[in-house]
Amino acid sequence: MSLDTAPRLDADALLNDPQTRIVVCCGAGGVGKTTTAAALGVRAAERGRRVVVLTIDPAKRLAQSMGIDALDNSPRRVAGIDGSGELYAMMLDMKRTFDEIVEAHADADRARAILENPFYQSLSAGFAGTQEYMAMEKLGQLRARDSWDLIVVDTPPSRSALDFLDAPKRLGSFLDGRFIRMLTAPAKAGGRAGMKFLNVGMSMMTGTLGKLLGSSLLRDVQTFVAAMDTLFGGFRTRAEATYRLLQAPGTAFLVVATPERDALREAAYFVERLEADRMPLAGLVLNRVHESDAAQLSAERALAAAEALDERGVDDAGAGAGDAAALLRLHAERMQVLAHERRTRDRFAALHPEVPVAQVTALPGDVHDLAGLRDVAELLASQEAPGA
Ligand SMILES: Nc1ncnc2c1ncn2[C@@H]1O[C@H](COP(=O)(O)OP(=O)(O)OP(=O)(O)O)[C@@H](O)[C@H]1O
Ligand SMILES: [Mg+2]
Repeated sequence: MSLDTAPRLDADALLNDPQTRIVVCCGAGGVGKTTTAAALGVRAAERGRRVVVLTIDPAKRLAQSMGIDALDNSPRRVAGIDGSGELYAMMLDMKRTFDEIVEAHADADRARAILENPFYQSLSAGFAGTQEYMAMEKLGQLRARDSWDLIVVDTPPSRSALDFLDAPKRLGSFLDGRFIRMLTAPAKAGGRAGMKFLNVGMSMMTGTLGKLLGSSLLRDVQTFVAAMDTLFGGFRTRAEATYRLLQAPGTAFLVVATPERDALREAAYFVERLEADRMPLAGLVLNRVHESDAAQLSAERALAAAEALDERGVDDAGAGAGDAAALLRLHAERMQVLAHERRTRDRFAALHPEVPVAQVTALPGDVHDLAGLRDVAELLASQEAPGA
C-alpha cells in the first residue's frame, strides 16, 4: 500500500457542501494547522460561503494581514476577499474567554469578586488545558450564534495533540477533584443554608488549612469556590454539548501532518483517537511535502556522475566541473530527502489505507498573507486522482 493508491481528499467538495458546518484542523505542533485553517477559510469564503476562522496563536505577520493582530476575542471581517462570500477571523484569547463566561453567568457583584480573585486569575491564566476548554467554549458560542455557514477551527499546539478532545472529560475531572468537591459539597447539598454551612465549615478548617496555605490565600480560595460553584456546572454541560456537536455529521476533522516520522506518528494516533471518539474524520492533509522537477535523475546516478567528474580532475573535465559536481551532490541529497518522505508517507498509508489524503507542497517562503493562503488552498484543492 503506497500513498499513490490512497484515496484523495476533495477539499472543494467538503467546503462547497452546505451540510459542512464545522471543520477542525488538528495535528502535532508546527505542522501547519493554523495555515491550513486560514487557507480553507479564504477558499470557502471566495467560493461564496460566510465563514469564520477561529485561530490560535497565529504568526504575527499572518494575523496582521488578516486584520486580527489585536486580541479582542470577537470575529473581525477580513478585507480583500474576492467574490460574494465573507470571511471573518478571530484570534482566541484564553483569559478573555474565561472572563466573558464569568460575566455572562454571574451577577455584576459576584462577577467582580471572581474576576478580582487571585486564585481565579492564576487559574484562568495558567491552569493546564485552559486553551482546550476555551477553544471548546468559543466554538460552542460561535455555533450557537448561527451567523456563519461554516466555522473553521484551528487547535492549540498541545504537547499531546489529543488534549482538544479531552477537554470535556478533563474539565469534569477537574471539577470532581477532591479539593473542589470538599469545598463545594455542603453548598450543593443545602442551597442557601448550605452556603452558611460552607462558611462555618471553612472557618473551622481555617486553623489547619490556614497554616498550610496562609489565611488570606485561604479566603481567596473560599470566595472563589463559593462563587464558581454554580458557574462550573453550566460550563461542563456546555463542554459536553460542544463535544456532541463535534461528533455530528456537519463536522469534519482534518488531521494535518508533515511527511516526517514524528508528525505522522502523531497523525496516526490522532486518526485512531478520532475513530475511538466517533468523530468524523475527513482526511489527512500532508503539508510541506518536497518535490523535484528533476526526479528522473536518481540520487545514485547523480552521485556517480559527481564522482566521475571529481576523478577526472579539473584539467580533464574542464572549467565548471567542480560546480557541476557540487550541484549533482545537492540534487542527490534532495532526492534522498524525497525518498525518505515518500517511505514515511507510504508507511502511514499502509496503516490507514482508508484515510483520504491531500498533499500540499512546501512553498519557498512562509505563508503570511492572503495570496499565500490562496496558494496553499489551491494546492490543497487540486489533488490528482490515484494512479493519475
Ligand atoms: N505549505 C507550506 N509551505 C511553506 N511554509 C508553510 C507551509 N505551511 C505552513 N508553513 C509555515 O510553517 C510555519 C508553521 O505553520 P503554522 O503556524 O500553520 O503551524 P501550526 O501547526 O499552526 O503550528 P503550532 O502548532 O505552533 O500552532 C509557519 O511559518 C507557516 O507560514
Ligand atoms: Mg498554530
